[in-house]
Amino acid sequence: MRRPVRRTLIHPKFTMPSTETLAEDAAQQAVLRIPQFRLLRELIYDTTGISLGDNKLDFIQSRLRKRLRHLKMDSFAKYYDLLKSQGPQGAEMQEMINRVTTNKTHFFREDHHFEHLRNNIFQRMIEEATRRERPRRLRIWCAAASTGEEPYTLAISVREVFANQPGWDIRILATDIDTNVLERCKEATYIPDQLLETPGEIVKRYFSPSKSTPGSLTVRQEVKDLVTFRQLNLLESEWPIRTQFDVIFCRNVLIYFDQPTQDTVMRHMADYLKPEGTLFIGHSESLSGLASTYTRVGRTIYQHTNYVGGPASGSQSQPQYSTPTPRPMLSGNSPRNDASSTPVAKATAPLERKSIIVGDIHSSDKPMLISTVLGSCIAVCLYDDAIKAGGMNHFALPTGQLGSRKIASFGVHAMELLINEIMQLGGDRRRLKAKVFGGANVLGMSGEDKIGQKNVDFIRNFLHTENIPITAEYLGGNQGMQVLFEPCSGRAKMKLLDHSKTIEAEKIDRAQTTTKSEPVSDITLF
Ligand SMILES: C[S@@+](CC[C@H](N)C(=O)[O-])C[C@H]1O[C@@H](n2cnc3c(N)ncnc32)[C@H](O)[C@@H]1O
Repeated sequence: MRRPVRRTLIHPKFTMPSTETLAEDAAQQAVLRIPQFRLLRELIYDTTGISLGDNKLDFIQSRLRKRLRHLKMDSFAKYYDLLKSQGPQGAEMQEMINRVTTNKTHFFREDHHFEHLRNNIFQRMIEEATRRERPRRLRIWCAAASTGEEPYTLAISVREVFANQPGWDIRILATDIDTNVLERCKEATYIPDQLLETPGEIVKRYFSPSKSTPGSLTVRQEVKDLVTFRQLNLLESEWPIRTQFDVIFCRNVLIYFDQPTQDTVMRHMADYLKPEGTLFIGHSESLSGLASTYTRVGRTIYQHTNYVGGPASGSQSQPQYSTPTPRPMLSGNSPRNDASSTPVAKATAPLERKSIIVGDIHSSDKPMLISTVLGSCIAVCLYDDAIKAGGMNHFALPTGQLGSRKIASFGVHAMELLINEIMQLGGDRRRLKAKVFGGANVLGMSGEDKIGQKNVDFIRNFLHTENIPITAEYLGGNQGMQVLFEPCSGRAKMKLLDHSKTIEAEKIDRAQTTTKSEPVSDITLF
């Protein structure tokens, strides 16, 4: 009798795959169907502005499959549900964005831009600063920094030109939507392929062999120190930037946006470019639809239209610069020259006057007067003598819930905003001096309810911590006061308000105020 053959169905060496492997395999097989592709690309467009044509289905499938594999997810439908359930601020949305961005870049890409920067823009700035027509301050924004090659090329260009120029305050802000690339920026280590267009002597001067990755090169510390990296989505309607830039590089990112998005982003960007500032875009990008905002001054190089003047000069190959008008100053009004004898009000022409109320800030480097009326509120007049510019704020409380109030109603914000405004005018935080007014107990409050006293304590503390000297103050008391400040000379005047009656300066009984500081020597009383 024949014995039945025993069939081995499983090979002896075969081991059952784990559920994990099965899930990863399923993810690897996941197919992105057209309806899911459309949903995903809509989400990508809404969040990043990146506009994907129908031909990008394979690209998205392969980029996101890796993510599905990591999440052990077997379908794009489930992945889309996950994204939707977490919302635009969800962690997975950032992971997805990091996978769909294209980060191709290299050092000295489109070198003619850096040449223009070094030979024209930087040189002009140095000449203007030497003639005292501008502060020694330079701010550059690299708005789609990718893995760092572009901002570091900018920093190297800065080092090349400014290394022997004393007293310059230079910062480069580098932003990108992709958080992975920003991490790579901070590592600042690159394979030699990324440096193919970098001159040998520049490599020698600004790179060292990487300690962690043999064969790679790391950017030297003095170059890294110039750059600050932050995440920023160009599509957001508000950018958390409080300065205007002399130079903006926004290269090779517009190409991923459709025309309306490009226009919106570039109009928004104009708010962050100084009127005489310069914008660089990528070689295949154009701002031709925005002639009322930008004028072409070179190959993919633009300036504010209003600054350059005249119609868009699309055919120009050489950059043209308007010479900035020298900043007007009140003659003889410098506190150093006039020994405080010329009253502010005796300026030759009637001065522009700006009245501010609680929550307002005003700063200027032009001859003008800022005025306000205070009770328990505080007004701080800050002044930078080196650039003859200053400003005043007016806040109600040290800090608190915003509600319907303006943000500068609170001292913590009002002070930072005022300092930033003066820095935008070319000021330096380290040179600022303060004259401080207000904090009266006008409502006759007692004990802990004394808002005026809280304000006084706050501002003294703030200025002390920030190392900003108080050169004059009139704080406390129980009467309101009017304050006048001339930002371009730093001089301030005040008068006490006794209900309806104005008290003559000479008759103010300073003993009735709580002010414990130096006499108000630098304030012109009236
Ligand atoms: C091709 S790289 C350009 C790098 C560099 N600017 C250059 O020209 O070599 C494009 C960069 O734009 C970034 N990007 C895309 N959409 C963005 C957005 N909405 N906001 C900010 N950056 C964005 C990407 O993450 C990517 O790093």
